[in-house]
Amino acid sequence: MNPPSTLYQGLIERYRARLPIASQTKVITLCEGNTALIPLDNLARAVGHDVKIYAKFEGLNPTGSFKDRGMTMAVTQAVSEGSRAIICASTGNTSASAAAYAARAGIRCFVLIPEGKIALGKLAQAMIQGSVVIQIKGNFDDGMRIVKEMATVAPVAIVNSINPYRLQGQKTAAFEIVDVLGRAPDYHCIPVGNAGNISAYWVGFSEYAGVQPKTAACGYCTEYCAFPFPAVTSTRPVMVGYQAAGSAPFIAGHPIAEPETVATAIRIGNPQSWDLAWAAVRESGGWFDSLTDAEILAAQRTLAATEGVFCEPASAIAVAGLVRDLTRGKIRPGSLITCTLTGHGLKDPDTAIKQSGGGMVEVPADSDAVKRAILDNL
Ligand code: F0G
Repeated sequence: MNPPSTLYQGLIERYRARLPIASQTKVITLCEGNTALIPLDNLARAVGHDVKIYAKFEGLNPTGSFKDRGMTMAVTQAVSEGSRAIICASTGNTSASAAAYAARAGIRCFVLIPEGKIALGKLAQAMIQGSVVIQIKGNFDDGMRIVKEMATVAPVAIVNSINPYRLQGQKTAAFEIVDVLGRAPDYHCIPVGNAGNISAYWVGFSEYAGVQPKTAACGYCTEYCAFPFPAVTSTRPVMVGYQAAGSAPFIAGHPIAEPETVATAIRIGNPQSWDLAWAAVRESGGWFDSLTDAEILAAQRTLAATEGVFCEPASAIAVAGLVRDLTRGKIRPGSLITCTLTGHGLKDPDTAIKQSGGGMVEVPADSDAVKRAILDNL
């Protein structure tokens, strides 16, 4: 029986004409994409400068991060090529997503994670979804190096963002933003770790403007989706990428040997999409900048407490950065700004509880005590 025509069937079905996918290919999907674009009016009011700010909340994807957009494409392609196993290195979200799509496709999934540096929610996802979790005594960059080797010695397909199909899937977030706003934003602010996502957004915004980006290396396949695509909008945003101060190779201008940050998702010293990300920033007239762990956590708290939007620390860096750049005048007053909140706050409950200031009031189980607690805190 065919699904009802009103059923949202995921981003491949929605954007098929712009994706490198053959019509007969069986799609592996969890109905990812179509995430909310949430106005951050309280934040905009607090900052002033007459700006409009929207968060693309990618934590609302099926496994709680933007990785699902790339994974539906990468796993669909891998399975269509006959792969029976996939592999990735991960700071957590990629492993959670890969495990889910592998489970759906009925294939094996191997994930390499850095020992002790992965948020609990992500680990839980990878484990329950039946992947083989290989914890290495090293960081993400070590894992990435080993994964690339493994693909040459074992029958496993890499589903990290060096897989061009990943970026092709991830570019659809930019499409959705333009589809909802009816135009491209003036600025797009985004966290940067391995640097695939900023590259993918630039491809998406460029395609919608009818421009083939210089970053086009990432996975065009002229067989199924050749340029030029019809333009949907006439402009492209300035791309702004933010890194954690202890893991900021784009600011340093070279890889960082021992990256460190509370935002474990972006604890990456040797980004694989180095050239693509630089091209996106240069072509768009944008910039990279870094923020301290304290600034990242403060933004996570502010967003949760004043907008009700709970994202993970790595995601909050986009908000921390855009607020600072607005205050400094780098982002023009009156602008339309979008930012990507890459992952859900529930991914990392430990950090959230630790930094919420122990906001619990303990009282005996009687109504007088509870009443006092309410009146004291009104
Ligand atoms: N935000 C979150 C929540 C992430 O998980 C990641 C990357 C990023 C931002 C950075 O995106 O790598 O495309 O620049 N996480 C990867 C992982 C590396 O393994 O889950 P990027």
